[in-house]
Amino acid sequence: MVARTIGVIINGATGRIGTTQHLRFLMEIRAEGGLAMRDGSRLVPEPLLVGRDEGKLAALAAAQGGLRWTTDLAAALAGPDEIFMDCAATGGRPERVKQAIAAGKHIHIEKPTAPTAEVAMELARLAAARGVKHGVIQDKLFLPGFAKLMFLKESGFFGRIVGARIDAGSWIFDGERQVCQRPSWNYRADQGGGLALDMMAHWRYMIDRLVAPVARVAAQISTAVPRRVDEAGVAYDVDVEDSVQALLTLEGGIPAVISNSWATRVRRDDTMCVQIDGVLGSAVAGRNRCFSQAAVNTPEAFGGASLGMDFMAGWAEVPDTLPVKPPFRQCWELFLRHVGEDAPYLPDLVEGAKAVQLAELVYRSHGEGRWVEAARLAL
Ligand SMILES: NC(=O)c1ccc[n+]([C@@H]2O[C@H](COP(=O)([O-])OP(=O)(O)OC[C@H]3O[C@@H](n4cnc5c(N)ncnc54)[C@H](O)[C@@H]3O)[C@@H](O)[C@H]2O)c1
Repeated sequence: MVARTIGVIINGATGRIGTTQHLRFLMEIRAEGGLAMRDGSRLVPEPLLVGRDEGKLAALAAAQGGLRWTTDLAAALAGPDEIFMDCAATGGRPERVKQAIAAGKHIHIEKPTAPTAEVAMELARLAAARGVKHGVIQDKLFLPGFAKLMFLKESGFFGRIVGARIDAGSWIFDGERQVCQRPSWNYRADQGGGLALDMMAHWRYMIDRLVAPVARVAAQISTAVPRRVDEAGVAYDVDVEDSVQALLTLEGGIPAVISNSWATRVRRDDTMCVQIDGVLGSAVAGRNRCFSQAAVNTPEAFGGASLGMDFMAGWAEVPDTLPVKPPFRQCWELFLRHVGEDAPYLPDLVEGAKAVQLAELVYRSHGEGRWVEAARLAL
C-alpha cells in the first residue's frame, strides 16, 4: 500500500472550529492511516498548526501527539505543505488567502470567504489563475436533518415546491452575567462580525440546492443588544446586526423567508429549522431530525374544527437510512479527494462568493429600503 503525506496548514487551529472540527477530523483520518484513494493508495494529512498564541499552539500540538506549529504564517506558507485552511476569525481572511494562493497552496477555507462578493470573486479568480484547487466549507447539508431534506427533494417528494422558510437562532448572552457563547469578534464590524455575513453563507447554499437559486432579496437588519462584554470582561459597543429578516424570490418565482436572530429564544424543534412546502408534500428539518407530511396525509386544518387539534400528529419522521459521517469530516474527505485524485468538489470559491453575495444583498436591501437582484456570479 502506497501512502502519500500531504501537509495541511491550519491557520486558526486553536480557535473553536479549528480545534473541534478541522484538526479533529484531519487527525481522525490520519489515525486511520489516511484516506483511501481510488487507486488503492492512501493520502495522509499532516497538520501544521498556525496561530498567534505560542502557549496555546504548543499545548494543542503536544495534546495531539507532537504536531508541528508556528506563529509565523509567512514561514508556514513558504514551506512544502500543500493545503491552506483558514479558520481564524473572519476579518482579514482575503489577505491571508491571497498570500496562500501566491504561495501556490490549494485553498480550503471557512465561510464567509470575504466581506463582499467582489472580493470573494477576486479570490476565486486568483486561485483559478494560479491553478490551485479551491473550496469553501459548506457543512450544513451534511447534517442528518438537512441531508434528509435533500433526500426528499431528490426523491421528488415535494412535487412542485411552492415555498420555503428558515427559522434560526437562539439567545446569545451579553456576557454580563452569563458568559457569551459566541466570540466577541462576531459583534465587531472590523473583525468580520455581523449575523448576516456569518449566517447567510449557510442559507445561500442550502436554499440554492434544496429549493432553487436566489433571485432577489428584501431584508431588514437590527441590533437587539447594542452593548456586550468581551472575553476579557471589558464592555464594548456592538456595531453590527444581531438579527435579520429577509424575504426572497427564488428562480421560478418561488417565495422564501429567512428569520435569523441571536436575540430570540428557542421554542421550535431546533436552533435551525427549515421548512419546504410542495404541492405533493411538506417537510420540516432541524439539524438532526426531519419530519414529512404528504399531500394525502394532510389533515383538514381550517376553521373551528381545527381548534385544539394535534397538528404534530400528522407528521412522520424520516428514518435514519442514510450513511452518517460528521459534516466536517465529509467536507475534508471530499476536498482531500479533490486534491489527491482530482475528484469534483462542489463548493469552490465561486460558491463561496455566492454565499457572501446573499449577505451583501441583505445589507444593500436594508440600506436602500428596496428589493435587490442577485447578479449571476461565474469565473
Ligand atoms: N462552517 C461553520 O459552520 C462554522 C461554524 C463556526 C465558525 N465558522 C467560521 O470559522 C471561523 C472561526 O470561527 P470560530 O467560531 O472558531 O471563532 P474563534 O474565535 O473560536 O476562533 C478564531 C481564531 O482566530 C484567532 N484570531 C482572531 N483574530 C485573528 C486575526 N486577526 N488574525 C488571525 N487569527 C485571529 C483567534 O485567536 C482564534 O484562535 C470564522 O470565519 C467563522 O465564520 C464556521
